[in-house]
Amino acid sequence: MNVLILGSGGREHAFAWKLAQSKHLQNLYIAPGNAGTANCGTNIPISVNDFEAIKNLVWEKDINMVVVGPEDPLVKGIHDYFLQDDVLKDIPVIGPKKDGAILEGSKDFSKQFMIRHGIPTARYQSFTSETLQEGLTFLTTLNAPFVLKADGLAAGKGVLILNTLEEAQYELSAMLIQQKFGKASSTVVVEEFLNGIELSVFVLTDGKTYKILPAAKDYKRIGEGDTGLNTGGMGAISPVPFADAAFLKKVEEQIIKPTITGFLKENIDYRGFVFIGLMNCNGNPFVIEYNCRMGDPETEVVLPLIESDLLDILQGVATQTLHTKILKISPQVAATVVMVSGGYPNDYEIEKEVTITTETNETLIFHSGTKLKEQTILTSGGRVFALTSFGESITEAVNKSFVQAEKIQYQNKYYRKDIGKDLSQY
Ligand code: AMP
Ligand code: GLY
Repeated sequence: MNVLILGSGGREHAFAWKLAQSKHLQNLYIAPGNAGTANCGTNIPISVNDFEAIKNLVWEKDINMVVVGPEDPLVKGIHDYFLQDDVLKDIPVIGPKKDGAILEGSKDFSKQFMIRHGIPTARYQSFTSETLQEGLTFLTTLNAPFVLKADGLAAGKGVLILNTLEEAQYELSAMLIQQKFGKASSTVVVEEFLNGIELSVFVLTDGKTYKILPAAKDYKRIGEGDTGLNTGGMGAISPVPFADAAFLKKVEEQIIKPTITGFLKENIDYRGFVFIGLMNCNGNPFVIEYNCRMGDPETEVVLPLIESDLLDILQGVATQTLHTKILKISPQVAATVVMVSGGYPNDYEIEKEVTITTETNETLIFHSGTKLKEQTILTSGGRVFALTSFGESITEAVNKSFVQAEKIQYQNKYYRKDIGKDLSQY
C-alpha cells in the first residue's frame, strides 16, 4: 500500500516511524513532514489544508490511504472532501468526517453530545453575546475556580481557568463581547471546575467497534513542577499508573461505550482516533474534552507501545473489520521528553543548527519542529524533538531520554527534567 500522512510534528513522525515498519507498506509520503519524517518516507511540501494539492498528490502517487494527524483539516472537512470527489471517494481517510470532528471543533456540541448519551462531565451552560447577563448570573452559582471555554478551535488557548468571580465575569464579557478569541469565542462554555488528576485515553474506532490504546499522561506547562504557561505538551508517560484496571473499566463502561453507541445513534460514521481528555476525580472518570485525532506528544508514547502492525489495524478501520484485528501492546513503560526552543511558548528563535553528538540505541528521536537545509538539521518550531524511551519503570524510561537530550545540541535548548516524577508515588 501507498500511504500519505498529513502533518509535520512529532506525532506525524511517530506515525511515519510505525507505519514504515509495516509489511503492507510500499511507499510512504508525508505532507509536509519534517527532517525526521524524511528518514521514514518522502516529504512533500504541501499544506495539510490545501485539499486540491492533496488530491493531485493522491492521484499522482497512487495513494491507498490517508492518515490525518492534526485536527484542522478534519474540522475543515477533508474526509468529506474525499467522499464527495469521484477520484478520491474510495480512498480511505483515517480521521472522522466533519460530523465527527465537530466533537473537537465545538466544545458546546461535545458537551451536548455527552449530556445526550449520559457521559459523565462537568456541569455547564453555554452562552452567546445575547445571553451574557445569564452567563454572569450562572457564574455566581458556581464555586471558584471558574472554567471558561471558547466553543471553537483557538489553537489550544481557548480555555481560561480563573480564581475569582470578578475575573471570570470580566473574561466572559471579553470573550463574548470583545471577541477575545475571535469567532471561536462567539459561544462560550462555562463549566464547573473538576478537582482531580488528568489523563488521556485513546480509542480507535471503525464506527462500529473499537480498540482501546494505552492511556497517557502529558505535561502541559512549560516549567518544572507544572508551573508557567501552557504549551502543546512537554512530555508524556504511558501507561498511567493511577489508571488501574478498575478505573479503566469505568472509563470503558461509562465513557467509551456510550461514545461509540452515541456515534451509531446519531449516524456519525466515525473512522479514526478519539482522544478523550479525562479527569480522575476520586476514582471516577469525567470527560474534559474530546479531540478527533491523536495527541502530541502522547502519540510518541502510545504508538511505540503497539506491537501489532499498525497499517493492518488501520485497514481494519477503513474496511470496518477492526473487530477481526488483534491489538498487541507492549508491557513496558514508555516516556517521552520534549525538547523546545528557548522562549517557547512565547516568542522563540528558529533556524538554529542542531548537532546530535550520539544517538543512543535506547531512545527514539522523534522530530517535532525541524527542517533540513542540505544535510543540516535546523530547528523550525517551538517544540523541536520528542525523545521516547522504554523501561520497566517510569524512572528507568525517562532517564534514558534525559541521557539522549544531553547529546543533542542547539542554541537555547530547554526541556523539563521532572517528566514522570509526580507519578512515582503510585
Ligand atoms: P482543553 O483545551 O479542553 O484541553 O482544556 C485545557 C485544560 O484546562 C485541560 O487540559 C485541563 O487541565 C483544564 N480544564 C478544562 N476543563 C476543566 C474543568 N472542568 N475542571 C478542571 N480543569 C479543566
Ligand atoms: N497534548 C495535547 C494535545 O495534543 O492536544
